[in-house]
Amino acid sequence: KDGNKSADTRLGEICELLHNNVDHYDWVGFYFKNGDKQELKLGPYAGAPTDHTIIPFGKGICGQVAVSNQNFVVPDVAAQDNYIACSITVKAEIVVPLFVNGENVGQIDIDSNTPDPFTEEDERFLEFINAEVAQIL
Ligand code: SME
Repeated sequence: KDGNKSADTRLGEICELLHNNVDHYDWVGFYFKNGDKQELKLGPYAGAPTDHTIIPFGKGICGQVAVSNQNFVVPDVAAQDNYIACSITVKAEIVVPLFVNGENVGQIDIDSNTPDPFTEEDERFLEFINAEVAQIL
């Protein structure tokens, strides 16, 4: 039993598990809406540290999902105008919103160094992960 683990510890473990076991997941992290501010704040993650610990709503792929409430699959980040680069090795990205009681509270964000790797299977899988995460928040 690990009932005493904090939510952040568990989220960090989920990031590590996904990062270490899915070949095309090269950076995995959670962003959460930051109180009443119109911005996202980086939570637990696995992969290289990023400078983008705060992302205003509307900015980048993450900021767009904060306002759209919809999955955003980016097969080629170079083709996106509204994109925040975290690493020059990244070719593709997927962001799936995290809902708690129907409210978009944050998101899981995954970067890939492989071009166009994300399928509907990734979307369904990450929706499932987020639904599980919603239970421990
Ligand atoms: N690429 C994201 C920023 C977060 S980093 O990928 C960790 C974006 O455009 O919102």
